[in-house]
Amino acid sequence: MNTNPKQKFIGTLSQKELLKIYSKYVNSPKVRMFKGFGLGVIPGERDGIHLKTLEGSKLGDPPMELYNCRSSGGVFNLGHRNPRIIQRLKEALDGGLDLGDHMLLSEQRALLGKKLAELMPGDISKTTFGVSGGEVIDTAIKFSRAYTKRRGCISAIGGYHGHTGFALLTGDPDFRDPFLWNSPDFKQIPYGDIDAMRKVVTEDIACVIIETIPATAGVLIAPEGYYPEVREICDDKGVMMINDEVQAGLGRTGNFWAIYGGLYPNEKVVPDFIICGKGMSSGIYPLSTCSYKPFIEKAVFKDDPFIHISTTGGSDLGCAIALEMLEIQSAPTFLDNVKELGKLFGKGLEEIAEDYSEMIKEARGRGLMWGLEFYKEEDSLLGMVSIIKEGILLNYCGNKKDTLIIMPPLIVKKEEIEEILKRIRQGIINLKKIKKN
Ligand SMILES: Cc1ncc(COP(=O)(O)O)c(C=O)c1O
Repeated sequence: MNTNPKQKFIGTLSQKELLKIYSKYVNSPKVRMFKGFGLGVIPGERDGIHLKTLEGSKLGDPPMELYNCRSSGGVFNLGHRNPRIIQRLKEALDGGLDLGDHMLLSEQRALLGKKLAELMPGDISKTTFGVSGGEVIDTAIKFSRAYTKRRGCISAIGGYHGHTGFALLTGDPDFRDPFLWNSPDFKQIPYGDIDAMRKVVTEDIACVIIETIPATAGVLIAPEGYYPEVREICDDKGVMMINDEVQAGLGRTGNFWAIYGGLYPNEKVVPDFIICGKGMSSGIYPLSTCSYKPFIEKAVFKDDPFIHISTTGGSDLGCAIALEMLEIQSAPTFLDNVKELGKLFGKGLEEIAEDYSEMIKEARGRGLMWGLEFYKEEDSLLGMVSIIKEGILLNYCGNKKDTLIIMPPLIVKKEEIEEILKRIRQGIINLKKIKKN
């Protein structure tokens, strides 16, 4: 009898068999694409910042052992299976919690709402819960429309806020067109261009929605002064400002919020909404949050407190572990560590960019969120594969494929950052050799 609990779930079949099943019953183009990159592998054991595949990418190869520098966009801010989070989940289960009933009131939602309010900038103090990022982006846009009684929404070209209704409308046509989904009320403008923003923000607009550091668009860094001006423009026209901090929030920049000092230390902007997803789950239990200023509540819920509901959004179990995550990630020592390691990481990446400046245009980022932009898309894609083969899991930006996005878990250690940098450099050296041949 197999008594190892891990083997009950991980490696129950051979990788080859699982790929076949995945292809047949889940998504065959995805399997084909991964195989095309020479990465037809299935993740197996995971722990801390490490991830191991079930087997190697070629028959007979050893399993790949990877430093997870994707972190799934921040889902694994605390690494895989963080012991404090696992412990908390077990305690919550043993302590009598389950999903809870979304129609009723909830002790856990009350406590998490209070903690979030303490951490939010300015007077953002109300929270509506969801399961995924897209769901709470939809929530923020819905609430902005209810409050302003306007329809318009402005977002950034190349940005990504999710695959759901309103969220999808804020995204690029590539994600919308196949589903025949568009609306003249939703407009996209270039990121960081304040004149473009000024032109489109009129009295028909309900909200401006921006990822504080757009990830899918290429880890873009807005010029200094951009967000304070966006705030002014929104105030001037009575428009809601929504900051999507799904990837850049929760300490990723070394500040708890990117919009509140994380991008530029002296720029502390208070939007009307802050959206969190991914890392709210600690990689263990899905949860997302839409937090907003109190005046918005009346416009949405006054006549009907059940006007917006989500059965599994804000589950008691999810809230209980999110509280533990916030306790860990908002600690000043934790944030100082991200800041310090972020400096080391950024310096290392800038050196790599400089040493291989014939291929790499720029390294840019904040804290432990970095982008490495190549001159050619082909080099970025080949570079990604080459770096993964050195044991560093990362990916290209979906809407700017010439840029690799690198986001190690926030619990990474100094020695690990040094090792990760060494391997990224080796990946680039190997890429250079491939290109010569
Ligand atoms: C910045 C940002 N916002 C929103 C979302 C949507 O989150 P979800 O996939 O949980 O719906 C994502 C997902 O990648 C994201 O990166």
